[in-house]
Amino acid sequence: MDYFFKCINCGFKFKSEKVEYYCPKCNDLLEITYDIEELKNFVSKDTFEKYPLSVWRYKELLPIKDFSKVVSLGEGGTTLHECKNLREIFNIKSLLVKNEGENPTGSFKDRGMTVAISKALENKVKIVACASTGNTSASLAAYAAKANIKSIILIPEGKVALGKMVQAIIHGAKIIQINGNFDDALNSVKKLVEYYPQICLLNSINPFRIEGQKTLAMEICNQLNYNVPDAVILPVGNAGNISAVWKGFNEFKELGLIKNVPRMIGIQAEKAAPLAKAFKEGKNEISIVNNPETIATAIKIGAPASWKKALKAVRNSNGLLEVVSDDEIIEAQKLLARKEGIFVEPASAASIAGLKKLLENGQLDKYENIICITTGHGLKDPDVVLKTCIEPLIKVSPTIEELKKVLGGDLN
Ligand code: F0G
Repeated sequence: MDYFFKCINCGFKFKSEKVEYYCPKCNDLLEITYDIEELKNFVSKDTFEKYPLSVWRYKELLPIKDFSKVVSLGEGGTTLHECKNLREIFNIKSLLVKNEGENPTGSFKDRGMTVAISKALENKVKIVACASTGNTSASLAAYAAKANIKSIILIPEGKVALGKMVQAIIHGAKIIQINGNFDDALNSVKKLVEYYPQICLLNSINPFRIEGQKTLAMEICNQLNYNVPDAVILPVGNAGNISAVWKGFNEFKELGLIKNVPRMIGIQAEKAAPLAKAFKEGKNEISIVNNPETIATAIKIGAPASWKKALKAVRNSNGLLEVVSDDEIIEAQKLLARKEGIFVEPASAASIAGLKKLLENGQLDKYENIICITTGHGLKDPDVVLKTCIEPLIKVSPTIEELKKVLGGDLN
């Protein structure tokens, strides 16, 4: 579909066939916009019914011109789980979990990557790069492999979750560890693409990534037959996803497909929470957290690139930003796994931990229709489970007597 770049700060609107990241007038971030009135001629509820639930169901709302270049691994179409057991535990009317761990590389990043890599190919790009806490790099490496182009990933020092690291390795990315945290790695990769403009930057400041990720909201609308939930809760790190989900709901509203939009509720880890802090203090700017810390390494970010978009999404939706502790995250991860059979990585569990906290402190009402988005699969970070859920291994001889002895009362 025909599209424009629009600056999120000064509103400057322009056309370009290239992948643009910054406003040529004020240097702030860009977003993609469409002529909604024109789009109405192409899009109706029936348009979507023709395609299976997936990112590409919404192709009329995506900024791709040459669909022959689309690089897809089958992204989107993730399940909206009815969580009856958790609903009873929390004593709430409804709880749905949209499990983005079901994507091809195990996280929501695939939604943005399929669109951004397809766009990169339209532009004849041969090398792509990103800085990542792990999931973006896993996704980038897989999609670049499929597209037959090179990928470079910059990772922070310290530990990148094992599963994510293994994915980047097997898909053949060039992996470079930066002496510094994620925010330093992001600054380095920005310098890299400035120096070598032939490399395409695939962090979420690339507005084409956001376009793919907005389909998460559109799928929710379709799965609920256009009955929008009251609130959507999701973890926030670099703040691209909350901005993307908000954009998706808004485009559906502007197209007249839904009547209202949900409250956007972002959850940060308490020692990596510049956005939640700014929100709670009523500030319009964030203060960077220099040494962010959390067991949820995916969201261990102190200077979120899309902070401005995220604050706007939360404020305009009458939403919230809240913090949770590492203990609360671990408890929520276990609860979701043991009561609903859904295994997510710690960052994803932040949405469930956030829900629990907001219900307890009265900021969420038990009658609201709530969706928690879980963003990445639990197998991404097995070490955390081994560290936090360790129970001694029971060893016995292979006889029924021995089994009876150790199982004892557990069978009644
Ligand atoms: N959940 C998971 C599993 C993530 O990997 C990320 C971000 C987020 C939540 C937060 O999303 O940054 O859009 O606010 N991971 C990035 C990465 C930073 O490099 O993989 P966000």
